[in-house]
Amino acid sequence: MAYTNHILLVFFGALALVLAYSGPDLPPGPYCGLTGQCCKDRQDGCSHRILDSKCYCDEFCNRTAGHDDCCPDYPQVCLGEIQETVQGCKFGSQYYAKGETVQKDCHKCTCVRGSEGPYDWECDQDPCLMSDEVIRNVRQAGLGWRATNYTQFYGKKLKDGLIYKLGTLPLSRETARLGRINIDKDVPYPPQFDSRQHWKNYISPVVDQGWCGSDWAVSVATIISDRFAIQSNGAEKVTLSPQSLLSCNLKQQQGCHGGHIDTAWIFAKNHGLVDEECFPYQAKVTNCPLKKRGNLLTDRCRPVVPQRTSRYKVGPPGRLGKEIDIMFDIMQSGPVQAIMTVYQDFFHYRDGIYRRSRFGNNELKGLHSVRVVGWGEENGDKYWIVANSWGTSWGEDGYFRIARGENESGIESFVVTVLSDVTEAYLRK
Ligand SMILES: *[C@@H]1O[C@H](CO)[C@@H](O)[C@H](O)[C@H]1NC(C)=O
Ligand SMILES: *[C@@H]1O[C@H](CO)[C@@H](O)[C@H](O)[C@H]1NC(C)=O
Ligand SMILES: *[C@@H]1O[C@H](CO)[C@@H](O)[C@H](O)[C@H]1NC(C)=O
Repeated sequence: MAYTNHILLVFFGALALVLAYSGPDLPPGPYCGLTGQCCKDRQDGCSHRILDSKCYCDEFCNRTAGHDDCCPDYPQVCLGEIQETVQGCKFGSQYYAKGETVQKDCHKCTCVRGSEGPYDWECDQDPCLMSDEVIRNVRQAGLGWRATNYTQFYGKKLKDGLIYKLGTLPLSRETARLGRINIDKDVPYPPQFDSRQHWKNYISPVVDQGWCGSDWAVSVATIISDRFAIQSNGAEKVTLSPQSLLSCNLKQQQGCHGGHIDTAWIFAKNHGLVDEECFPYQAKVTNCPLKKRGNLLTDRCRPVVPQRTSRYKVGPPGRLGKEIDIMFDIMQSGPVQAIMTVYQDFFHYRDGIYRRSRFGNNELKGLHSVRVVGWGEENGDKYWIVANSWGTSWGEDGYFRIARGENESGIESFVVTVLSDVTEAYLRK
């Protein structure tokens, strides 16, 4: 090992000097390295043939600038200047020249050299999305949930994850102040309730939003889908398209850089959505193919029931406050939307009941819209069952459980239900 390193260093050192000596055509040697002989005085025996002249391995060979007739490997062999002359940065088994870049985990690193200093990598300092510290500490701490290393997140930056895996823009002041609906129903609340079991086959699948901050569109579209199926008693079991929002709800929205949920709900109320088959999700903003005043027929979509021509619309959204009101609404009408604050540790969630750990980065955070489908209890620990939008390979088959009744990560701070249209459909049942 030491031997190979030495050869490599000598090789790169020689190359460095050749460039300094007289251009790239000079054979790098070895010369002084052949005999290992370095002399004090000028002697013929202390020289070597190089091209059609001589080069020297004595201490006079460098006597003046411009009269340098030293052999290319003189500094390494006779002066031991090995480190100084390595012409690049090492990564793996390869050397890279000044200015070249490599990717190390999520960091872009550039090979630099300070004035006469050694070559070194200079990397950006952004925290990566996946963190050893989080994985290690959550495993040891016994928090009630487990963390894992997701390969799909490896090599990504935390700041990009917070944009492209989330996508909820802060609520406007008026929206944040919206009053809560008080239901306060004194009914028996079961300890467990799971929409997926209660309304078998009515609950829409977990979406993978991809590398696009479209949670606002995905959560709204999937909740409307679930509620159409539930309130029509299965007659209108549709999977609605988040793409209708991502591509057509442009005003005040920022596409894959995030959206406002209140704006999305108003769009769904006024214009409606079409189904996924008609306008499949593409994880990017595309041209909107839907006419402003069109319907499912002019959009060339195929309604699941013949009576329907208008797009799938909802009534005005309402805000739920208390834990039992959220439970009542889910039990009555189906999944609801919640907004939570996401920090780095959440990306590592594998299973269990999530509570923020404070391991990893605690400065960067983002807002995430999700779909709450039910609740339960495990050894007296209460939780919500929530659909995420990062595909089914994340968490518990695409879902996660989070502590209930303690506003964990703000999950109970802004919960949205949709009334009118869907409620009427439910009452007709
Ligand atoms: C020549 O080499 C000697 C090393 O012993 C060094 O002290 C001196 O600065 C060098 N001169 C030039 C002109 O590079
Ligand atoms: C996570 O996975 C990547 C490759 O998929 C690996 O290079 C990295 O070392 C892993 N990190 C941890 C903390 O296990
Ligand atoms: C819930 O937590 C969020 C932040 O995490 C906070 O802004 C909000 O005021 C809390 N809501 C309640 C009802 O405690």
